[in-house]
Amino acid sequence: MSERPEMYEGVDTIWMDGEFVDFEDAQTHVLTHGLHYGTGVFEGVRCYDTADGPAIFRWEEHLERFYQSAKPYDMEIPFEPEEISEATVELIRREELDSCYIRPVAFYGYGPLGLNPGNSPVQVAIAVWPWGAYLGEEALEEGVDVAVSSWRKHASSQIPTNAKTTGAYVNSVLASLEAKGNGYTEAIVLNKEGNVAEGPGENIFLVRDGELYTTGLAESILDGITRQSVVDIAEDLGYTVHDDATISRGELYTADELFFTGTAAEVTPIRSVDDNEIGAGTKGPVTDEIQTTFFDILDDPPAAYEDWFHPV
Ligand SMILES: Cc1ncc(COP(=O)(O)O)c(C=O)c1O
Repeated sequence: MSERPEMYEGVDTIWMDGEFVDFEDAQTHVLTHGLHYGTGVFEGVRCYDTADGPAIFRWEEHLERFYQSAKPYDMEIPFEPEEISEATVELIRREELDSCYIRPVAFYGYGPLGLNPGNSPVQVAIAVWPWGAYLGEEALEEGVDVAVSSWRKHASSQIPTNAKTTGAYVNSVLASLEAKGNGYTEAIVLNKEGNVAEGPGENIFLVRDGELYTTGLAESILDGITRQSVVDIAEDLGYTVHDDATISRGELYTADELFFTGTAAEVTPIRSVDDNEIGAGTKGPVTDEIQTTFFDILDDPPAAYEDWFHPV
């Protein structure tokens, strides 16, 4: 096996198909259906080191999306959500992590190849590892420079965009490669109609005249759990939020503020789009208030948000 990436240094155990196995033993066959056809579903979740101890953020919602993602592919995950939940909590405890990223994945495994996956067994794995800010600590403060991708997001008439399917992420990979190749930190992907969809791994919010706008579920986006959390936080702060917006490309350039949301990116300001400065070219005041509230909730969950946390 090739050298272990730095990211996974110190990780001892992975949960696979009902068992805790050594990191090096979490292997699958090269004739795995999901490897050839992208027939897997996954989640990205974070566990935070809160004042009440390590807790998984919005775990029930992530678990629900995991099972929902499997549905269009007729994939029956051969474990109950409670089993996945217990295995994950046990894994975090075994790895002695206070905060980490959690990656559950289910995929059609080694079986007869052919597009119909029906005869392939469904395999499930869960890995956890420590993971800092996805786009970098500086990005959270200063914001990121992004470019509108020349790749369009697939419509949900082509691939269900509300399902977190492994194969669908080739679109995100293309957008991400293009953005980075051109010297930007991240991409914004337009949908088939040419309106804003989302980032390769993030939802997007726009601030205009003190109100918030985020692209609606019919705009070919993933129904992001951070997106929903930020809608709730913003409304609790008294903002008007339009969570069913259609946002044109031009509106990006003239926005007062823009920011990404996602499990990996958390709340990351966008300071420029296609080299056009957004607002003052740094984190705007509304983004700042929402980001600060978001991180305060994660640090020390107030009673009103307690049910967002699953203790480890
Ligand atoms: C394409 C895409 N959009 C949006 C998001 C944000 O979703 P969430 O906040 O649930 O992580 C993600 C990350 O999972 C994603 O991959």
